[in-house]
Amino acid sequence: MTEITRDVVIVGAGAAGLTAANELKKAGLSVVVLEARDRVGGRLWTDVIDGAMLEIGGQWVSPDQEALKEVIDELGLETYSRYREGDSVYIGPEGGLTRFTGEIFPVGPETEREMVRLIEKLDAMVAQIDADAPWEHPDAEALDRVSFQAWLEAETADQEARDNIALFIAGAMLTKPAYAFSALQALLMAASAGSFSHLVDADYILDERVVGGLQQVPLLLAERLGDDVLLDQAVSEVEWADATSGSASGVIIRTEAGLTVRARFAILAHAPILYPWIEFIPALPRLKQQLHQHISMGFVIKVHAVYDRPFWREQGLSGTAFSPYELSHEAYDNTNFGDERGTLVGFVSDRNADELFRVSAEERKARILESLSHYFGDEAKHPVVYFESDWGAEEWTRGAYAASFDMGGLSRYGADLRTAVGPIHFACSDMAGAGYQHVDGAVRMGRLVASQIIEETRA
Ligand code: FDA
Repeated sequence: MTEITRDVVIVGAGAAGLTAANELKKAGLSVVVLEARDRVGGRLWTDVIDGAMLEIGGQWVSPDQEALKEVIDELGLETYSRYREGDSVYIGPEGGLTRFTGEIFPVGPETEREMVRLIEKLDAMVAQIDADAPWEHPDAEALDRVSFQAWLEAETADQEARDNIALFIAGAMLTKPAYAFSALQALLMAASAGSFSHLVDADYILDERVVGGLQQVPLLLAERLGDDVLLDQAVSEVEWADATSGSASGVIIRTEAGLTVRARFAILAHAPILYPWIEFIPALPRLKQQLHQHISMGFVIKVHAVYDRPFWREQGLSGTAFSPYELSHEAYDNTNFGDERGTLVGFVSDRNADELFRVSAEERKARILESLSHYFGDEAKHPVVYFESDWGAEEWTRGAYAASFDMGGLSRYGADLRTAVGPIHFACSDMAGAGYQHVDGAVRMGRLVASQIIEETRA
């Protein structure tokens, strides 16, 4: 049994926790970061699988992600553009493939008009939403009572337009079916990226990657903290002073490995769906407990297929592909910087992912590669390296990409998500406004919570 004392104990060595720890340390406070895994980075994980460097978790950076871009610059990391030369491909409801350039999918003229109209309407609605407080919108409750699917059905009778607009939020971002989250949650997702149009524009939202992998951000942030980052320390218990009990303030945190940390403040810097796995003494306030039952992780398989060369480029294809009617609803050229080999990345989301976890691993692989071959031809069926990022199997994440509220939850409880409970603060990409569900949001939340604690220590 070991016991240590710090000003602030941070639970989770992801981008949020490590950002907070660095900010607090700069302000002269002593910190320790407790990480359950045997590595830092959380949902940022760059690894070599069968000789290929893969971004198992988050990887892309977009121009609006200013907080993350600042950190990347400050750490001296280099970025490069996602490959986007040539034609993208779209597969329509009848299975026909069309090549196209630009943002709007090559649909019939009537469907195109509907898609453009819906994008403009959603942009106008998003402009009315404060990403940091969507529940303050005058129609927040009404928008939170209707699913995004039902909202789209009320807006247009054009099924293909609905399927494509839903894709930008449901399959590509929240990774839940469009009937499982509200229109308000959809608007928050778009507002967090600046506009709905940004989500439609793959060249904007999936703009750059970091040379050598995005996990270098948490790795370098952790390096600055040296011995103050402790791995294999899963936190199981948080004892805190209840403001009403009159006991001494502060926290006592215990880990499964037998470490005890006493601190003035704690930051829980992990996915909010994991709070119920920790024992709080005393229990968290009733509304927090309810809130935690109304958020859940999305579900997506990120598929990596590496080939001896980027063969699709020879056909004038960019590697960018979309179809709400395909198992892999989107795919991109994900070739590493300076690599001769070619990598495709595909994504299988929500109900399609459910379906694939009902079959064997071999069948899953065969069906995913079949789907990629619909976009890029038969050669796509024969990668030299194949890997599925399955975050649902990760004990310390339990889904991907991030957490969102169920129907009605955002207007009911959203405002409470970030609120501190006595000495316990909360930070994670999953509670961000700008950068929500992204590394940028994690950095922003880490900074915010650190500034709140610094202010409290100076009060
Ligand atoms: P994160 O979950 O990363 O870190 C929390 C840490 O807490 C983890 O290390 C965990 O082990 C630890 N922990 C949990 N419980 C604990 C306990 N009880 N005790 C101790 N430690 C505990 N974003 C982006 O910007 N661009 C992108 O392209 C993508 N793509 C993408 C793909 C995939 C497959 C995933 C899974 C995610 C993305 N994302 C993304 C999202 C992005 O990766 C994510 O939003 C942030 O990395 C989250 O950072 P946090 O620090 O908030 O949580």
